[in-house]
Amino acid sequence: MFRVVPGAASRKDFVLGAEGLLPAAEAQAGGETIYAAYDAQGALLGVAMEAAATGYQDVIRILYGYNPACECVTGIKVLKMAETPGLGDKIAFDPEFLKNFEALDARLAPGRDGLLNEIVAVKHGNKTAPWQVDSISGATISSKAIARMINQSGQRMFPLIMRHLDRLRAGG
Ligand SMILES: Cc1cc2nc3c(=O)[nH]c(=O)nc-3n(C[C@H](O)[C@H](O)[C@H](O)COP(=O)(O)O)c2cc1C
Repeated sequence: MFRVVPGAASRKDFVLGAEGLLPAAEAQAGGETIYAAYDAQGALLGVAMEAAATGYQDVIRILYGYNPACECVTGIKVLKMAETPGLGDKIAFDPEFLKNFEALDARLAPGRDGLLNEIVAVKHGNKTAPWQVDSISGATISSKAIARMINQSGQRMFPLIMRHLDRLRAGG
């Protein structure tokens, strides 16, 4: 949590689903759990959530952070993977790769119902835009899976997070 939303001092769990946004303790109908992170003064710093997609070997699952103020992704943490040691498993610790996600552009389109630019992985050395992920050389498939899962999750979740921003800022 504190790896994907830098500076977080506290956390409140919410469920986003058919009932809208509810504190996790009050949610009946189910939905997707999101973790709102606040600084020591109680200001919303970002929201963490899970995403998953199939990599080279098997499903990869991550926790990642989103900052509604900059409309950007602020970090990822690999929770589960079976990628090849020395190749795909670098998605979890390669510093250059992880730098992609420190301020990854995730601005919403004017209609506020999806991303202005799809988050995509490009071959190593070919990143030209702030919404692109520079792949790990020799592990493009694993890298693409990370970009794909963030794109899929973000297209759905970021518009909803923005819609409920006042409640998330208020902390419940
Ligand atoms: C035994 C074996 C294991 C591999 N494991 C991975 C992996 O975990 N992740 C991955 O992206 N590519 C893996 N690859 C390489 C992919 O087949 C592919 O070549 C690579 O993702 C392409 O990246 P590149 O375009 O940077 O060379 C593996 C290849 C072999 C032969």
